[in-house]
Amino acid sequence: MLKVVPNKGALGARIEGLDRTRVNEPAVAAILDQALAEHLLVAIPGEPMTPEQTRDFARVFGEPQIQLLRYKRSGAFPEVSVMVSTLMADGTTDKTAIRAEDWHTDDSYFAVPAKATLLHSIEIPSRGGATWFCNMHSVYDALPDATKKRIEGRRAIHGYDTPRARNRPSPRTPEEIAETPDVAHPLVRTHPVTGRKSLYLNPNRLDRIVGLERTESDALLDELADEARKPQHHFGHVWSRGDIVVWDNRATMHRVVIDYPVGEERIMHRVLIEGEPPI
Ligand SMILES: [Fe+2]
Repeated sequence: MLKVVPNKGALGARIEGLDRTRVNEPAVAAILDQALAEHLLVAIPGEPMTPEQTRDFARVFGEPQIQLLRYKRSGAFPEVSVMVSTLMADGTTDKTAIRAEDWHTDDSYFAVPAKATLLHSIEIPSRGGATWFCNMHSVYDALPDATKKRIEGRRAIHGYDTPRARNRPSPRTPEEIAETPDVAHPLVRTHPVTGRKSLYLNPNRLDRIVGLERTESDALLDELADEARKPQHHFGHVWSRGDIVVWDNRATMHRVVIDYPVGEERIMHRVLIEGEPPI
């Protein structure tokens, strides 16, 4: 019997009793997609799957999209990216894993960012490496009325990189650079399913607020990010091997904690689900 069990934290629900082979049945799909919009994250335990199975499972939430960075794409199934965040003994690791240590939402540097991200754990370290999520509805609700007035109707510029980010992203090929010009998005967006407002922030990609001087823009973005960093808006997912976690990029941010042992494999499959222009 399929059950949606809400978390005690700021967001998320655990899906119990799901037969992953029945996921494309319309009644099951409707429950999962509604749970995602309502709880902003669903966690589904199970066993590791192949890239093909991961892609097919992801279709329950919408259309899988091919991701920007070519080198991560999984062979015959390019909608699935293989994310390796294993810490190497020589001190090197995949740079995007380190960058993911700060709060961000996936794909905001595109005019039409992904609606949701599915992450499926193939190998995980013996301890550590939790992924934390931030409920951006509750962050918006917690802002003072004066701040809400200041940001209402404002747009902000998202880029593949910004000097405001703590770390630099993976290098892009010339083809990938051509595909990622800066874009403007509303600072406050409305969820297309629930109608709730959320703050659309991304400290890794958000460069400036349109129409403000740089110093004023920086100060306001810092003030907004400070609210999002408060623990009352957060929920941490501690991974088991084979977990599927799907989150709603329209109203959440996330970050990984890089506190796991050196040399222990941490490998995930990632699928992005096509979204709509933020409004
Ligand atoms: Fe991410």
